Amino acid sequence: MSGLREHWEKIYREKPTDQLGWWETEPEASLRLIGRCSLPKDAHILDMGCGASVLIDRLLELGFVRITAVDISATALQVLKKRLSIPRNARVEFVRDDITQPETVLHLPPVDLWHDRAVLHFLVEETDRQVYRTVLRRLVKRGGYVCLATFSLEGARKCSGLPVQRYNHRTLADFLGQDFQLMEWFPYTYHQPSGSLRPYIYALFRRV
Ligand SMILES: C[S@@+](CC[C@H](N)C(=O)[O-])C[C@H]1O[C@@H](n2cnc3c(N)ncnc32)[C@H](O)[C@@H]1O
Repeated sequence: MSGLREHWEKIYREKPTDQLGWWETEPEASLRLIGRCSLPKDAHILDMGCGASVLIDRLLELGFVRITAVDISATALQVLKKRLSIPRNARVEFVRDDITQPETVLHLPPVDLWHDRAVLHFLVEETDRQVYRTVLRRLVKRGGYVCLATFSLEGARKCSGLPVQRYNHRTLADFLGQDFQLMEWFPYTYHQPSGSLRPYIYALFRRV
């Protein structure tokens, strides 16, 4: 097991999910941007680095029926799988993979929406960022959407003991490239369970 994977497995093994420094009871900023996409209910939505977030619970409640949950941590995916109540007409695929050393994700069908909250910012090596972008560009359909949430330029320099790369809407746009049109962005202050504040940026792009 890679050191990175072990790092995340240990976190999810040792802490209740609602005490994690990124836990949200309602992923309202993500849902706000996903709402802007006006996707049909059978759109394929991929949550990269989903962890045990309730975003997928909410997407299922909204009637979405085709979701792929990707995370480096099998423990996080188990927590999520155990909690989710998946309607009969919906399918959630659970994929354990490392976006910097992708295997299974490379073979996924095209996606209408790629969502990532707080994963991209952990990629501080240019080679890892390039691999992430290559996979994203391979999977996101033309006309599809990308919703990214990362620490903003005013944000913390580390998260869960790891260094992070901070972004604003321009650097996120530069990262994705010209064929991803920035549709909307906003700063968002996340309140950690401990009470500390973490400034994020949320941005929505559409592939042209
Ligand atoms: C800060 S948490 C955010 C979790 C979730 N997106 C949320 O908003 O609650 C980062 C997540 O990314 C996962 N992760 C970290 N590095 C990853 C990688 N290289 N590939 C896939 N997932 C990764 C971690 O296991 C963790 O669940």
